[in-house]
Amino acid sequence: MKRILITGGSGFIGSHVADYLLTRGYEVVIFDRVSPVFLSEAEIVVADILNKEAIKQAISNVDCVIHAAGVLGTHETVVAPTVSIKENVIGTLNVLDAAIKYDVPVICLSKPNVWLNPYSISKDCMEKFCFMYVYEHGLKVSILKLFNVYGSRQKYNHVQKAIPTWIVQMLTGNKVEIFGSGSATMDLVHVHDVSVCIEGMMDNLEECLVTTSQPISDDVYSTFSGLNEQILELGCGEEISVLDAVMKLGLTIGKEYSVSHLPMRRGEVDGTRLCANLNRLHYLTNFRPSVSLADGFENTVLYYRENLDAILKGSL
Ligand SMILES: NC(=O)c1ccc[n+]([C@@H]2O[C@H](COP(=O)([O-])OP(=O)(O)OC[C@H]3O[C@@H](n4cnc5c(N)ncnc54)[C@H](O)[C@@H]3O)[C@@H](O)[C@H]2O)c1
Repeated sequence: MKRILITGGSGFIGSHVADYLLTRGYEVVIFDRVSPVFLSEAEIVVADILNKEAIKQAISNVDCVIHAAGVLGTHETVVAPTVSIKENVIGTLNVLDAAIKYDVPVICLSKPNVWLNPYSISKDCMEKFCFMYVYEHGLKVSILKLFNVYGSRQKYNHVQKAIPTWIVQMLTGNKVEIFGSGSATMDLVHVHDVSVCIEGMMDNLEECLVTTSQPISDDVYSTFSGLNEQILELGCGEEISVLDAVMKLGLTIGKEYSVSHLPMRRGEVDGTRLCANLNRLHYLTNFRPSVSLADGFENTVLYYRENLDAILKGSL
């Protein structure tokens, strides 16, 4: 497996995966509707996954697709649900159709879909379509549910993601905003671990693919219950409360800060607990995350500190 197409390769996760795979000797093609800011050595296709012909052509000559293109956002998507459906569902269907045509395996990035917002609903729908395509078209797909990914390059003002937002609020001396009580938990995984994990999945792709040979339940409401268990989960495997995460970031930054508690945002529920189960991923690929929270926070804070002006101007 040599030539890899990364949809959404100009984004936070896609650009890190692209960089990492380049260092590992892969040929990388980035397919994104915007040009990458960080990369030079990958082949770049600036196009939209909603353009069927463009994605078909890009997939026609690769060995594997890492599908990371999509729109994110919880409260941001509540007011515009059709965008999530268009990008994350219809866009994904275009990727899957092209993958079937050229018999190319796909690693599809998803997320824990515990809330009722258009982003989560569209990702859940994307997973279901992957399953359907396995049954109906013999699609080769592996689904990786990423929990709370953090690290350098995550946009601060794109959608409001917790870690970049808190870091910037601390660095600029603003109040650190916490939605709800702060008792909700996250499972934070560093983006470097995501890259290493994806390489591990490609090395063990046959084993990681969703298969129809799982036992089918006799529960009429969950005929396909064997499928969800085949989705791989990636976090660090430990939950941390929002309050503890803020406190640890504060210690890393080493500045005084105060906290402001705001009402929960639309599309989110207070007190949600998130923790990935890495057993299946580890069993199939032998992968375990290796970046500690202390090291991960250290290098992430450094990135935001060094690039604060550009980040505040929106150019990074
Ligand atoms: N960041 C996280 O914590 C996290 C957690 C779970 C899952 N994920 C998933 O990982 C993937 C990547 O997330 P990210 O954090 O890197 O997001 P990001 O916004 O940084 O990157 C997404 C990229 O997709 C591109 N894109 C969007 N729509 C497109 C289209 N129609 N055609 C072509 N390119 C398009 C964007 O231009 C962007 O570069 C997404 O599928 C996301 O749902 C992310």
